[in-house]
Amino acid sequence: MAYHLTIDLGTANTKISDSDKGLIFSAPTVVAAHKETGRVIAVGEDAKRLLGRAPSDISVISPVKNGVISDFEAASAMLRIFLNTVIPRSTFRPKAEIIIPADATAIERRALQEAAERSGVRVNKITSSPMASALSARLETDAPVGNMVLDIGAGITTAAVVSFGGVVCARSTCSAGNEMDKCIKEYIKKNYGVTIGLKTAEEIKCSVGSAHPDTPSGEITVLGRDNSTGLPKEITISSDEVRCAISPVLSAICETVKAVLEQTPPELACDLSERGITLCGGGAELSGLSRFLQENIGLPSGVSS
Ligand SMILES: Nc1ncnc2c1ncn2[C@@H]1O[C@H](COP(=O)(O)OP(=O)(O)OP(=O)(O)O)[C@@H](O)[C@H]1O
Ligand SMILES: [Mg+2]
Repeated sequence: MAYHLTIDLGTANTKISDSDKGLIFSAPTVVAAHKETGRVIAVGEDAKRLLGRAPSDISVISPVKNGVISDFEAASAMLRIFLNTVIPRSTFRPKAEIIIPADATAIERRALQEAAERSGVRVNKITSSPMASALSARLETDAPVGNMVLDIGAGITTAAVVSFGGVVCARSTCSAGNEMDKCIKEYIKKNYGVTIGLKTAEEIKCSVGSAHPDTPSGEITVLGRDNSTGLPKEITISSDEVRCAISPVLSAICETVKAVLEQTPPELACDLSERGITLCGGGAELSGLSRFLQENIGLPSGVSS
């Protein structure tokens, strides 16, 4: 069987799609390795479980930061293991398209390509992430019609206008999912005197996080370390508190979208007011985000299906 894969090495998750079947694999972009020998012990979900829980001789890292490779050896070793789980070992160097951030430099692009080739594929196409998002959302990309995609990932948020098969204008910011987690951790430290891990902060965001007050709200109880006693302490945090904690990140996302709108040629801007913003990336799952963007930017928005 001939495989034609698409590889998206994201800051939080590595996604592999097949041209026939769509998404065939997704796992956390995390590697656990022996510090001294560099030997890989676990990747993906197994490695993520070790975050904050590994002994001192094991390092647990994310080899991709803000969409670009920060540890080449770890990234290619991890990708090789992921590919081995989705395609039979006997398959000879399948063709692959790789997704790169909109503003990747030539060096960053080369590193992503080489990591993919080192993991056993033949890279035959490189696509910038806004184009890839627009295609997977099945937007009308071949026509001279403007569409805006807003990809909120873990390390980067990119807003872009695409038309006639290409990116017309784009802007990226590091205000994305990981920044929200850091804001939640800081909020809890400041208001409750309790330190939580980033993994717990992410759990809080995904379960009760919200971008708009008129969305179903809730509470979650988590365990952290009391900074005055050093002992474990339970705290309960609400959707309203999470919204308050992540509001700087939400504002920065709005500013990024506005900056792209300012660069958008007037004809395409008219298309956007009809078509709105297509949200993608894991951050688009944040409850109330469409409503928040509609109120702050004035364009309808919806998550790509
Ligand atoms: N329900 C949810 N609410 C809020 N955020 C969510 C939710 N589900 C997932 N996320 C966040 O989405 C992010 C991961 O999304 P995604 O897989 O698109 O990122 P990535 O492609 O790995 O990163 P990047 O594109 O920045 O390199 C994480 O920060 C995660 O916490
Ligand atoms: Mg991404």
